[in-house]
Amino acid sequence: MGHIERISGPLVIASEMLGSKMYDVVKVGDLGLIGEIIQLKKERAVIQVYEDTTGLRPGEKVESTNAQLSVELAPGLLGNTYDGIQRPLEVLKAKSGSFISRGLTANAIDRNKKWKFYLEKGIKNGSMVKEGDILGYVKETEYLSHYIMVPLGIDGRITGLKEGTFKADDKIAVVEKGNKKTELTLIQKRAVRSPAKFTKKFRSEEPLITGQRVLDLLFPVAKGGTAASPGPFGSGKTVIQHQLAKWSDADIIVLALCGERGNEATEVLTEFPELKDPKTGRPLTERTVIIANTSNMPVAAREASIYTAMTIAEYFRDMGYSVAILADSTSRWAEAMREISARLEEMPGEEGYPAYLPKRLAEYYERSGKIEALSGKIGSITLVGAVSPPGGDLSEPVSQGTLRVVKTFWSLDKSLADSRHFPAINWLNSYSLYLNDLNAWYVKNLGEAFVENRIEVARILQKEAELKDIVQLVGAEALPDAERIVLEIGRMIREDFLRQSAFDEVDAYTSMKKQAFMISSILYFRKRADDAIKSGVDLNSILKLKVREDISRMKETKEHEVDKAAQRIRSEIDSQFSALLKEYKENNR
Ligand SMILES: Nc1ncnc2c1ncn2[C@@H]1O[C@H](COP(=O)(O)OP(=O)(O)O)[C@@H](O)[C@H]1O
Ligand SMILES: [Mg+2]
Repeated sequence: MGHIERISGPLVIASEMLGSKMYDVVKVGDLGLIGEIIQLKKERAVIQVYEDTTGLRPGEKVESTNAQLSVELAPGLLGNTYDGIQRPLEVLKAKSGSFISRGLTANAIDRNKKWKFYLEKGIKNGSMVKEGDILGYVKETEYLSHYIMVPLGIDGRITGLKEGTFKADDKIAVVEKGNKKTELTLIQKRAVRSPAKFTKKFRSEEPLITGQRVLDLLFPVAKGGTAASPGPFGSGKTVIQHQLAKWSDADIIVLALCGERGNEATEVLTEFPELKDPKTGRPLTERTVIIANTSNMPVAAREASIYTAMTIAEYFRDMGYSVAILADSTSRWAEAMREISARLEEMPGEEGYPAYLPKRLAEYYERSGKIEALSGKIGSITLVGAVSPPGGDLSEPVSQGTLRVVKTFWSLDKSLADSRHFPAINWLNSYSLYLNDLNAWYVKNLGEAFVENRIEVARILQKEAELKDIVQLVGAEALPDAERIVLEIGRMIREDFLRQSAFDEVDAYTSMKKQAFMISSILYFRKRADDAIKSGVDLNSILKLKVREDISRMKETKEHEVDKAAQRIRSEIDSQFSALLKEYKENNR
């Protein structure tokens, strides 16, 4: 057992720590605060402490647990809110009130709840099993089979395996190898800092459908892909993260609330149980795990929280599920790294961040992906990180380190947010590098037209931006109608399609079918308008057409009325343009 020598903010220097290893979890001081050894020189250890270190004194004891920082993985994870080291916040609050007292611990997984455990077909006592093999499952929710897998690092002959009703820590089987016997329960532990093993990684060819039009049409992220949304304060980073958590079609959502305001966490906690998963109709909490380390919580635990979130995601991925991790904000994680690095007196890199920041970011994003698990199941982790560059300046190290590794970039724009264009995603400089990989999926599921429409929309928005520059110089009157109509269609795309309210019940989520209807209506209007202009009809009379009003209200269309609305708008476009042409011909006879 060692002793505290010195305390420096979240770090404690302890001596007489001989026998401890790097990354061992230790209990620090008389209160037994949880910490992790992050530097070890002979018998002196530097420990990052996951709780407030105020009041600790030199001389107090430090005890190693001889285990690495790890999480408990078992049925009962879903619906929980944990802190950065997987302490269940609700349980802690029940014990000590909203101000969680220090040194308090609680099991991450409820030990009292009973689960019915079913055996996987083909698994028999006496057979050989290896790490990652699926032994059976528990119906954790109506829609989710929670597979019980042989823990990593274990293999051998299985005995005593049986179906039945078990508490999480009841013995369900024994794995024997030589004279080593390992008891299995429904719980397995995994260390958080290193990636979990899998068989191979694939390129993903399926998009994460988000119900957010600007993302689904223009800048999709693949299931198993990476995305980042850097933007200044108030540009809508958190709202996007919450929208993805609510509406995207991943099987499991891991929400990592990292260093941002605590009230945002409270909002999620009150809202989610009331909202329904659009796919299953079940409360959203049933597919969600929240790791909350908000700004009022200790900085070292924030550094760890991001790994806790990832390890939970990997566990569900290994069962063959698509998981999305939403991390808000990775900048706060980097700041935690910076603070700890400064206290360690490491040589600072750019802007005081440790020189290994880019490497840590890359390693973290590298843990995403679509993979074949050890069990043979195919699962994925999609990783979306909010980045909060000070002043919105993307030249800073966290933004740069992130943009080097992510393949989808949602550029949040202060001026769009100021003009209340939400989501404030700049359509000119955002990008998705997945479009080629996803192409076949779109063609198969939504038809050629969807892909063609996307290209068309991108072209119009680009052209609109160029024309706007010209208009600035010479005025709109100088443009011919054939170009002024592009400005008009660009505006329709922006206002009637890209703009989407997160707070309107109907608008918050748009199915792909409705998105296809909306965009094809606008482009059909465009086609008829172009033809009419070519025939000599003047722009002003086109702009007066009543159907424009209908188009601007497409977003209010309820999902079950899409077919009807699509037909109606198309026939209105047809009849109104026909009337216009007829009138024009009569006047010009
Ligand atoms: N999609 C949206 N629809 C409507 N309002 C939005 C949307 N996105 C952002 N907002 C508005 O912008 C505010 C700031 O967004 P927030 O996500 O908290 O910004 P950030 O996390 O970037 O600081 C929100 O409180 C909301 O009023
Ligand atoms: Mg925010």
